[in-house]
Amino acid sequence: MSIVDIHDVQVQFGAKTAVSAATFSVEAGETFSLIGESGCGKSTLLRVIAGLQREWHGRVSLFETSIAPGQRFQGTLRRNVQMVFQDPYASLHPNHTIYRTLAEPLKIHGETQPDAQVSTALMQVGLPADAATRYPHQLSGGQRQRVAIARALLLRPQLLLLDEPTSALDMSIQAEILNLLNRLKKAHGLTYLLVSHDADVIAHMSDRAAFMADGVIQRFYDRPALQNGEHRM
Ligand SMILES: Nc1ncnc2c1ncn2[C@@H]1O[C@H](COP(=O)(O)OP(=O)(O)O)[C@@H](O)[C@H]1O
Ligand SMILES: [Mg+2]
Repeated sequence: MSIVDIHDVQVQFGAKTAVSAATFSVEAGETFSLIGESGCGKSTLLRVIAGLQREWHGRVSLFETSIAPGQRFQGTLRRNVQMVFQDPYASLHPNHTIYRTLAEPLKIHGETQPDAQVSTALMQVGLPADAATRYPHQLSGGQRQRVAIARALLLRPQLLLLDEPTSALDMSIQAEILNLLNRLKKAHGLTYLLVSHDADVIAHMSDRAAFMADGVIQRFYDRPALQNGEHRM
């Protein structure tokens, strides 16, 4: 089953074409990555697929259902697509405890007993139970990114969009988070769409990758090509 199917997608910001004629599919269970220099359009494409960038042209299907430009993601679709951003500090509310950050989306989606789910989610990402009582500034960068991952997984999505999930972290922490993501992917049968400018991260994580420049997908790499390091040239 194809989880993401985009065809000739274009995003325009005024005179600037951020994404031009992007076409690719992501199959269930894959990790598909977008690589390329800063400003080439990776995050914009991810934001289209997350329903955050609602002005675009072309065709987009998620879970084999077409999405229209301008469409707000609701219900199952909203649950099914979750995103993890580069900077966990910016993506967590500074004045909310971790408990509140994790429980709120559950309540919004009608779960009345969030406590057990919050505890399980913290455990799954390798955080102690008492992390629930802390505020973001009381956690390390790696711990904050674990919270952001826990929050993304709480609603049991099928697709996780990962926008440079480790590039704000110290080198020593990056591998831990990437390995956590790979473990969670297996455990929950997830599909990943990953953005990174780091060739090592791409080789470690991806089944396939697309290289973008100036809003255009220039070429695709399969797993053997990534293992050979062809994407480093
Ligand atoms: N909301 C926006 N308004 C205007 N221009 C934008 C907006 N978002 C992104 N851009 C521009 O679109 C291009 C692609 O940006 P982005 O998708 O963030 O690139 P990447 O994630 O690959 O670094 C850049 O030139 C950026 O400045
Ligand atoms: Mg970006």
